[in-house]
Amino acid sequence: MELEQALSTRFSARSFTPRPVPRADIERILELAQKSASWCNTQPWQVLIVSGDALERFRTALYAHARSGAAPNPDFPFPAKYEGEARARRVRCGVQLYESLGIVREDRAGAQRQMLENFRFFGAPHAALVTSDANLGFWGGVDCGIYLGAFTLAARSAGVDSVLQAALANHAGFIRDWFGLPPDRRLVCGISFGYADRAHPVNSFRTERAPVATVATYQPFLLVSRIFDPSRANGPIAKVSFESSGLSVVAGGSAFSSVFSPGGGGVRLRGFASSIPCTKTSPFLT
Ligand SMILES: Cc1cc2nc3c(=O)[nH]c(=O)nc-3n(C[C@H](O)[C@H](O)[C@H](O)COP(=O)(O)O)c2cc1C
Repeated sequence: MELEQALSTRFSARSFTPRPVPRADIERILELAQKSASWCNTQPWQVLIVSGDALERFRTALYAHARSGAAPNPDFPFPAKYEGEARARRVRCGVQLYESLGIVREDRAGAQRQMLENFRFFGAPHAALVTSDANLGFWGGVDCGIYLGAFTLAARSAGVDSVLQAALANHAGFIRDWFGLPPDRRLVCGISFGYADRAHPVNSFRTERAPVATVATYQPFLLVSRIFDPSRANGPIAKVSFESSGLSVVAGGSAFSSVFSPGGGGVRLRGFASSIPCTKTSPFLT
């Protein structure tokens, strides 16, 4: 399977068939994920794959632990709060999840029941626990994140579905004790994997992504393209002003690209094409 196809067809599966993934396929996924980049090639990830009877014992014990209301005990702090777009997107993906299962907003018990399915690995026949080197701190976590992404794509390319689970990392203390993890390992994330039960409603929705234009800025050319009046491609812009630390320069009647050249760092741009007023603050410039 091509990378593009793997990227396009991967989704977080939350119901799996019990069919195990052949050992050779798991090994292939691990071989591919192992090619991940890491800072100074430190490769700080270690991955513990749990399957079969060992997984059944772990599933029962972890589910009971989480259901008992045990206090979270993550190795890496969880996000302090979600605000703005992050909050809106978090709510949206929760709504999609619960709607797919017919769990209504007021049904707190239903939502809690579904959340606890994390600790049953959503019925998956395999769980992977990815740990980092404690000495590498945040950057070890970044390297492991790259590994986690590669793992999910390598899995998809082998026809295997997966879901990343920070929920498992929330009980790092329990998991550390259960497996006797060395003290210098930090649990970053879990992955449940296997073959999605495609008939299950929880696997029926797909999450949305913001358009690329809202996250990527080309400097300076995106600014130029945004500020141009499309009806007068390459034509002059009526007025462009630069504001930098109180300095305001107004240049009129010239193409934006030539007006832009005086802008170094720390410039806020405001432009008025003949028919479209545009304001753009570049994160690279302010
Ligand atoms: C670091 C990380 C942790 C996640 N933890 C969980 C989790 O604990 N439980 C869960 O059901 N999904 C978890 N997810 C899956 C996300 O909810 C999912 O990736 C996101 O909603 C986008 O949907 P998609 O993966 O279907 O494209 C996690 C994803 C990431 C990247």
